[in-house]
Amino acid sequence: MALRAPHPDEHGSHRYVPEGPPPARRVPFAGPRNFAAMRVMDQIRRDPLPVLAPLQATWGDRVGISALRYRIVLLYHPTDIEALLVGGTHSVMKAEGLRKGRWMMGGQLLVAEGEMHAAQRRVLAPAFAARRIEAYVDTVAEQSDQLVTAWGDGGAFEAERAMGNLDLAVAGRTMFGGRVEGAEAEEITDALEACVDAFPLAMSPLLGVVDRLGLPPKAKVQRSRRKLNRIVKRLIEDGRERLARGEDRGDVLSILVETYCAEGATPEDFDLLIDEARGLLLGGHETLARSLAWGLQLLAEHPDVLERIRDEVGAVCGDGPITAEHVGRLGEARLAFQETIRLYPAGGMHVRETQAHVRLDDGVVLEPGLQVAVPVWSVHRDPRWWPDPERFDPDRFRVPDPARPRWAYCPWGGGTRVCIGQSYATMFGTVLIATVARRWRLEVAPGSRPVAVARFTVRSRSGLPLIARSWH
Ligand code: HEM
Repeated sequence: MALRAPHPDEHGSHRYVPEGPPPARRVPFAGPRNFAAMRVMDQIRRDPLPVLAPLQATWGDRVGISALRYRIVLLYHPTDIEALLVGGTHSVMKAEGLRKGRWMMGGQLLVAEGEMHAAQRRVLAPAFAARRIEAYVDTVAEQSDQLVTAWGDGGAFEAERAMGNLDLAVAGRTMFGGRVEGAEAEEITDALEACVDAFPLAMSPLLGVVDRLGLPPKAKVQRSRRKLNRIVKRLIEDGRERLARGEDRGDVLSILVETYCAEGATPEDFDLLIDEARGLLLGGHETLARSLAWGLQLLAEHPDVLERIRDEVGAVCGDGPITAEHVGRLGEARLAFQETIRLYPAGGMHVRETQAHVRLDDGVVLEPGLQVAVPVWSVHRDPRWWPDPERFDPDRFRVPDPARPRWAYCPWGGGTRVCIGQSYATMFGTVLIATVARRWRLEVAPGSRPVAVARFTVRSRSGLPLIARSWH
């Protein structure tokens, strides 16, 4: 078989997810210390968004937080972000919290390191190649059209739920070559909620105790995992049967099944396959569904942008379906999606742990054992790179601004760990937005005032209720 990984231990960790170095002795930058630092840490655990800008305003582009065994650095400047994500890509690993909390979601690619990570990426890369993304367009267009048409004139819907169900219906077909709908889709959504609820634990000093003793937050996640495993196993069995019939659809699942279920595969390999498939399903789903929902919210608030998109869809596609041939010409919809994930980057922070020394541009060195975070939310709203940063303005991306540093925009992360689903998600966002625009204008439901919170991804505290209205 192409890839063999060790069996997970009883806590769901894998031996090839290495232990990090001991915590660094000091943080090299000024910032909160001791009690003040613990308060900031607690806030970051619960929801970092409200503290990110004040920390930068007080301490500058490099902030060091130090309390108990925690040594955390926040890097706000694009030059430092590049030095960390790209220059330092082989000297850093995924953050301690993500490694230790991996039992929540699973997924090998997300947490594997070094050679194992590189091998895993090589295995999955063909499923995300340009040719495959083109082949997924028809499914995205058809499923989006079905959903959007069903809203009807005056139809009220909650965008996060609606986009969650759409994403699962599409991912079932494109990623897993099968169907994920109805009760199964609800179960996946509930399981994901359980993981998200437990996520602050990943950064908590209590994580080890909860993990070892299987206390309630872990027990709840494990119950959801068992339900999820049933769904994933069903998809895998369907995939195996298809492969046995000689029908390789080139989807992610077919590739995983071929890798893990080749001759000589053991039951442990099958467990790893379930783990990887579940991680991909949940990881890609949560980020993409939230981004699509924020896109619809912003377009409801900016009918002029939606109207421009509608006109372009009419000119490019006429009355026919949106196809792969059209996607590259739906520039207005793509710009709107790009701007959406500037304002609402699903991963509000990218976090790493230094394994070796990382040198920043001016020669300052980060020691091993530091947790280093890129506060994407703030970087994307920094007025030095984004004039009038809170304004939704897709035109920012029409012509690249030579004065804006490349790493002032990093919704996909960077370096060897850059999002593998980037092209798929951009195609999906473009097609969905175009599909909505050609049918409806959108309104924000009366009384709705969305507030963004970062709980695993950036989501709305009380949903995104919208109304579809006829253009006429
Ligand atoms: C708008 C939607 C999405 C956004 C904003 C997004 C964002 C990201 C970011 C920021 C990372 C890097 C995290 C880090 O460096 O710590 C990442 C990694 C990843 N993403 Fe996405 N993602 C999206 C959609 C998807 C989809 C649809 C899939 C799969 C179908 C996917 C699969 C992955 C995987 C497997 C990784 C780990 C890659 C690795 O470590 O090598 N993502 N994503």
